[in-house]
Amino acid sequence: MAEAANPYLRGNFAPTHEEVSLPCARVEGTIPKDLAGFFLRTGPNNQFEPIDPEAYHPFDGDGMVHAVEIRGGEASYRNRWVRTAGFERERKEGRAIWGGFNSIGKVQPPADVPMMKNLANTALAWHANRLLALWEAGSPHELRLPDLETVDETDFGGGWPYAVSAHPKVDPRTGELIVFCYSPVEQPYVRYGIVDGRGVVKHTTGIELPGAPVMIHDMAITERHSLIFDMPVTFSIERAMNGGIAFDWEPANGSRVGILPRYGDASKIRWFDVQTGYIFHVFNAWEEGDEVVLEACRTARTSILETSRDMQADEQARFHRYRFDLASGKVSEERVGDIPVEFSRINEAYVGVPTRYGYAARFHPTRGLLFDAVVKHDRQGDRREVLEFPSGQFGQEFVFAPRVASRAEDDGYVVGFVHDERENATECWVIDAQRFGAGPVARIRTPHTVPYGFHSHWVSAADAAKQARG
Ligand SMILES: [Fe+2]
Repeated sequence: MAEAANPYLRGNFAPTHEEVSLPCARVEGTIPKDLAGFFLRTGPNNQFEPIDPEAYHPFDGDGMVHAVEIRGGEASYRNRWVRTAGFERERKEGRAIWGGFNSIGKVQPPADVPMMKNLANTALAWHANRLLALWEAGSPHELRLPDLETVDETDFGGGWPYAVSAHPKVDPRTGELIVFCYSPVEQPYVRYGIVDGRGVVKHTTGIELPGAPVMIHDMAITERHSLIFDMPVTFSIERAMNGGIAFDWEPANGSRVGILPRYGDASKIRWFDVQTGYIFHVFNAWEEGDEVVLEACRTARTSILETSRDMQADEQARFHRYRFDLASGKVSEERVGDIPVEFSRINEAYVGVPTRYGYAARFHPTRGLLFDAVVKHDRQGDRREVLEFPSGQFGQEFVFAPRVASRAEDDGYVVGFVHDERENATECWVIDAQRFGAGPVARIRTPHTVPYGFHSHWVSAADAAKQARG
């Protein structure tokens, strides 16, 4: 078959059509015995040739989850598509029936299916002993471990009949899942809610935005507050119908961060104007006296939704720190260092409380969605350690995996996939977080290559054993 013209359909962006369960026989180094659980990575992996391959957007493919199960110093690999209703319908038809992100308003699916296919391809979360596959504009799908079978779509017992964005937040102290979604067509443009640790929806409110409808990818929480980002990737169906893109950068719409009490309704939200920019991903937020501190990857502008050209240097995010003074209403913000980073992660036991360490991937200078190093950020002195991948090898999101009986914030491993484009081989790297600069303690070769994708997640063996049954 000829190589696809669209760069996101060729090379290691091309989908795999095999679903396998195999041991990982080749390991360089030693897999630590005190690491037990599942390294999971999801991403787009289209089942069928897109209707319009030229218009294929890297967000478009059907969700596929890749898992490396690590236990007793050994590893095995498994990958499965998320069996969404749309995936099953297209399987029955034997072809793609939905268009993609660049085809909004241009490709009409049949009348008996929703306008958009829930792709379940963006991120994963662990909440109420369930593994959830998330997608910006649809309900989560529950997946089962270890086999990655799709259990069902969930609306939390009917209590949240909306989408759950790709990045809800789990409060590790209360077990609550703090969720939001956005509507590009009608106010309230944002819905916000809380699901308790048993999966029951306890609070919902609709938040009207002062400007145009916008795309909101992530949020942040502290122990008492939630942060909603109104940043100017605006939606316009008229723009899409006139040959433009539905979501586009429109700085005149301004940039604000809304802070509301965790159980507050929309009337309690306070908007803080910030410098125009965009946050795709947060490290963490927490309270310090009257201040809310937010650390995030922030870019001065973005055209990530437009794939017709390479990403420019000023579209690559930098580590950014905001301070919102709830008493005075003042905001201060600063760029911390100049390393272009994304896919920010922390030890998730510290979500909402002060953290010292963050982990992120460093952008490759020219390969848009690919990364050439993983970075450990230490807030004490804002020091960074950078672990570069060998030439020709590219990584994506690394996550923190606590050591069994972990005792300190960085007592664990930093785990992620690295792909060697020369050898066409993928490895799962395991880095000791406290000896970060020493390089990986284990490089686990996956038995088949893992296409580039989006977010990763770690589920400990102890959590997986508590998984909700039936
Ligand atoms: Fe994301």
